[in-house]
Amino acid sequence: MPAPPRKFVAGNWKMNGRKAALAELEAIIAGLSGEVNGPRVAVFPSATLVAAAVETASGSAVEIGGQDCSAETEGAHTGDVAAEQLADAGARLVILGHSERRTDHGEGDAAVRAKVLAALRGGLEPIICIGETLEQRQGGLTLAVVEGQLNGSVPSELAGRAFSIAYEPVWAIGTGLTPTVAEVEEVHAAIRRFLDARFPGDAVAVLYGGSVKASNAAELMAAEGVDGALVGGASLKADDFLPIVRAAA
Ligand code: PGA
Repeated sequence: MPAPPRKFVAGNWKMNGRKAALAELEAIIAGLSGEVNGPRVAVFPSATLVAAAVETASGSAVEIGGQDCSAETEGAHTGDVAAEQLADAGARLVILGHSERRTDHGEGDAAVRAKVLAALRGGLEPIICIGETLEQRQGGLTLAVVEGQLNGSVPSELAGRAFSIAYEPVWAIGTGLTPTVAEVEEVHAAIRRFLDARFPGDAVAVLYGGSVKASNAAELMAAEGVDGALVGGASLKADDFLPIVRAAA
């Protein structure tokens, strides 16, 4: 299976940013304007900012996505946001199965899988997150955990549809710790084997996420099988995010 021709750098703003944060999005767009053959870039603000971010990014190459969606289309689900609502606000993508959703909201693989199907139904391109905890890594369970999450969270209905996988070791998220290049390559190779077997011929990007920053981006993006990055903290400021995008090119 081919990896997509361009790298893909996604910025996950998590529960950060109010209207004033759109100035950072403007700076990201300005910083990328005129660049040719650069990576694909997407920013994932909080749901409250999606519509305004879509407006800010209109006419630019930067895509906007949501950080989660409901498995349902509409109805009595207080506090949830449907894929159809995100698409209606102009979002093109959605992050699903982030470890903070899995941990804070008890989302298991079946819930993530249902959300992926909802995203497809609503016309959003999913980025599906997987990754092991420190305890699982220390127990030698990394590949078994990742393969279990792939089998449980990634439905066969994705065949022929655009989607990405983000490998995010839970212990690397927001901690400043990163796996070695060899550890990243081992897991990305396992993910690629899964994709080759289940989605032959589809060009699916496999992103690395967890403490990606300007100082380690070039090394991580050059690792075998790494097609891009899912960036949290370092995506909040254009001055931190732009060097990562450039390192991926
Ligand atoms: P981080 O977050 O870059 O702040 O470690 C990554 C993520 O959770 O997607």
